[in-house]
Amino acid sequence: MELSSNIRRIGVLTSGGDAPGMNAAIRAVVRTAIYNQIEVVGIMRGFSGLICKQFIGMQSHSVSKIISQGGTILKSSRCPEFKEEEVRAKAMENLKEACIDALVVIGGDGSFRGANLLWKKFGYPVVGIPGTIDNDIYGTDTTIGFDTAINTAVSAIDKLRDTADSHNIIFFVEVMGRDAGFIALNTAIATGAEATLIPEIHTDIEKLCSYMEGDRRKNKTSGIIIVSEGEDTGGAFKVSKKVKERLPDYEIRVTTLGHIQRGGSPSCNDRVLASLLGHGAVNALIEGRFGVMIGQLNNQIVYTSFDEACSLRNEINKKLYEISRILSL
Ligand code: ADP
Ligand code: F6P
Repeated sequence: MELSSNIRRIGVLTSGGDAPGMNAAIRAVVRTAIYNQIEVVGIMRGFSGLICKQFIGMQSHSVSKIISQGGTILKSSRCPEFKEEEVRAKAMENLKEACIDALVVIGGDGSFRGANLLWKKFGYPVVGIPGTIDNDIYGTDTTIGFDTAINTAVSAIDKLRDTADSHNIIFFVEVMGRDAGFIALNTAIATGAEATLIPEIHTDIEKLCSYMEGDRRKNKTSGIIIVSEGEDTGGAFKVSKKVKERLPDYEIRVTTLGHIQRGGSPSCNDRVLASLLGHGAVNALIEGRFGVMIGQLNNQIVYTSFDEACSLRNEINKKLYEISRILSL
C-alpha cells in the first residue's frame, strides 16, 4: 500500500468497559503496522495511561498468542478527567514528546467522544475501533465482544432453565446493556425466554403480570424473563419486586449475570471481526482517513465519522422483538 501520510509511529489503547476480542484487535493493529514499517506504542489503561505517559513499545512477539485471550493486555479504564480540556492538552503534549504520530482507540462511544476531541481540537490523527459488549454503536453491524457476551449469557440462561423447570420458578435474569437492549433481545430469542424487557420499550408491569398469568393458564409452570439492566423500571430486582406484589403466590428468583458477560475467550466471530477492524484501522491512518470509526456493514469495511458514531443510535431490530414474543407463546 502506498503511504500517503508521514505516520511512522502509532499508539494504541483500549478504553471503557473491556470486551472479549480487544486483544485480537490490538494484535491486528500491531501486526498490520509492522507489516507497513510503522512502529507501535501500547498505551496502558486507556486515556489514563496517556495522561501519565504509561507507554510500552510493542513488537510482533508482544501480541503472540493473545488472540484467544479475553480482557485486554493493555488494560482499560474509565478516566473522567479526560473530559477536562487541560487534561487533554497534557495528553497531546505526551503524544508529541513520545513522537507518536497517530492513535488507535479501541472502545465504545464514550471513548470515541474523547478521541474525537483530540481530532477536532488539535487536528491529531485518531481512528476508532468499536469494542464493547453492548453493541450500541452506530456504523457497524456488531461491535467486538457482543457475540462472545451473548454466547456466555445463553449458556448461563440454559443452566437457569434447568432449575426453573425443576422447581417451578420464574427467573428474572438481568443482562448487561446500559442503554441498549441488544444483549437482552438476542439472548431472549436464543433461550426461548418467556418475556424480554429492554430500554427501548417501556416496561408495563400490569401487562407483564397478565402475560405471566396467561402462561400459567396454559400450564407453563416455570419461565425465564430477560431484563436488560437499562430497562426503565430500574433492572431485574425492581421489576421482580413489583411483579411479586401483584402475583404473591409465584415462586420468583432473580439472577444478575453481571461481569461474567465481559470476560472469557472471544468467539470465532469476535476474533475475525477484531482482526478485520484492527487491520482496517491502520490502513485508514495510512490512507489519511482521520476522525473516523472503522466498522463492518454487510461484510464491507466502512468508515463512519466520530461525529456520527457518537450522535446516532444503533437501533434494535423491532422485528426481532416481535418474533421473540410470537415464539414464546
Ligand atoms: P465506552 O467507551 O465503553 O462508552 P465510557 O463511556 O466509560 O466507555 O467512556 C470511556 C472513557 O472515554 C471515559 O472514561 C473518558 O475517559 C472518555 N470520555 C467519555 N466521554 C467523554 C467526553 N464527552 N469527553 C472526553 N472524554 C470522554
Ligand atoms: O459498556 C459495557 C458495560 O458492560 C455495560 O453493559 C455496563 O452497564 C457497564 O459496562 C458496566 O460498567 P462497570 O464495569 O464500569 O460498572
